[in-house]
Amino acid sequence: MTAEAGLPDTLRDLPVWTPDAVALADLELLLAGVYRPLTGFLGSFDAAMVIGGGRLADGTPWPVPVTLPVPKDLTAHDRVVLQDPEGVPLAVLDVAEAWQDPTSQGWRLAGPLTALRAPAHGPFHRLRRRPDEVPAADGPLLAVATREPLHRKQLGQLRQVAERLGARVLVLPLLGGGHDESLVRALLAVRRELPDGAQVVPVPLPVREGDDPARDVLIRAHVAAAYGATHLLADEEVEGTAIPVVVPEPWAYDADVEVWRPVARIEPDHVQAELTAERLGALLDAGEPVPDWFTPPAVAAELARARPPKHSRGLTVFFTGLSGSGKSTVARGLADALVERGGRTVTLLDGDVVRRLLSAGLTFSRADRDLNIRRIGYVAAEITRHGGVAICAPIAPYAATRAEVRRMVSAAGDFVLVHVATPLEECERRDRKGLYAKARAGLIPEFTGISDPYEAPDDADLVLDTSALEPDEAVDRVLDLLVSGGWVRSE
Ligand code: ADX
Repeated sequence: MTAEAGLPDTLRDLPVWTPDAVALADLELLLAGVYRPLTGFLGSFDAAMVIGGGRLADGTPWPVPVTLPVPKDLTAHDRVVLQDPEGVPLAVLDVAEAWQDPTSQGWRLAGPLTALRAPAHGPFHRLRRRPDEVPAADGPLLAVATREPLHRKQLGQLRQVAERLGARVLVLPLLGGGHDESLVRALLAVRRELPDGAQVVPVPLPVREGDDPARDVLIRAHVAAAYGATHLLADEEVEGTAIPVVVPEPWAYDADVEVWRPVARIEPDHVQAELTAERLGALLDAGEPVPDWFTPPAVAAELARARPPKHSRGLTVFFTGLSGSGKSTVARGLADALVERGGRTVTLLDGDVVRRLLSAGLTFSRADRDLNIRRIGYVAAEITRHGGVAICAPIAPYAATRAEVRRMVSAAGDFVLVHVATPLEECERRDRKGLYAKARAGLIPEFTGISDPYEAPDDADLVLDTSALEPDEAVDRVLDLLVSGGWVRSE
């Protein structure tokens, strides 16, 4: 591994690529040896065998397709530098195969990797360890590889199993969900409740679309084994795991004596309590305290941070519709109404206004429209992350791009899509800016609804037709939705 010097001369002219979040996490695990025997991204044959039968082409069991999606123009090269999102080169890929995924039609590169530098992106980096940096255990090591905090029940189960095995405990917070920092903090917070010497090592194991629970247990077991674990605590046993899976016996809260214990040891006449995931979610949404019997206060605080009460949770209200449909009027009315009510910081990202500053210089080609919407989505997601209300009102004609914004925002807070579905005839009749007349006369090319597409959403949370509603009524409809959803307090 080279030191902090720049890229070696021999690599300076190679094309560079920043993998997406999943491939970047895979890259880190490949380079750290966590995915051994894998040493690089999979080729088409291996990937097909893994997806179909959970084995590499040579018969070695392997549960998940570790592949590297790239744009087509990168497939013409035989060496590529892979870099992190800040442009720091991490590894060189010697391309053994460029192939097209049969399902998505997307391009993939496969081949061995040479590490250039240890990855240093992402929070809690000082806690990360390569497997070879974790001192080997003498004796059993019980791992719990989890995307969820450990509450009093799981802590009890974990202590019980560790005691029975005479094992030390290794907690592997699995990063890659929406609230990695909260997860790690919540797991660090319960270290005192674990057997002495318990270690917490975050692992960037990505969440892959289409992963089934059995394959998830298989990859968790593989990762845990790479870190020296001898057993994995999990909810279900699966055939072929790298190390034995231990499924804890069921526990419940004995409300009569106020302790968690194995169900088998609770007196039949005692009241058993549980807090379902729905009930927990409802408590957090309403801003009510999570009971101490359920989870330690430090964990409850992290839960509330990751899922704040709805009335103070970040929110993006995204209006979409044709030019002249009334988006801007309703969006402005909504912003004013929220400001008048108080209690929320509001940012209005109107289509025309964004195009004068944030997206100045962009055209109305598909690529530029998509870039415009992504920029709006990026800003809206940041506003949402900080607990504000972002109100966006671009045309946003493409469903795929709107879905992308929904994903970006949903990782940071809540997202509401409002389709302002005023018919084209009405928009054209209004023609407040005279643009439809110009478009019909051929003076404006690619005009949405006339000479360019508008994909009406099928995932709108609210549909408004301003030809049948006064502006105030339309604003009230949106407000009603926000009040009934809990984002805005009723007056
Ligand atoms: S989007 O497609 O990228 O979402 P955006 O909302 O930013 O569009 O901008 C739309 C506004 O730009 C319209 O309200 C209209 O005033 C103006 N405009 C200029 N040219 C076009 C065009 N070719 N298609 C649609 N709107 C246009």
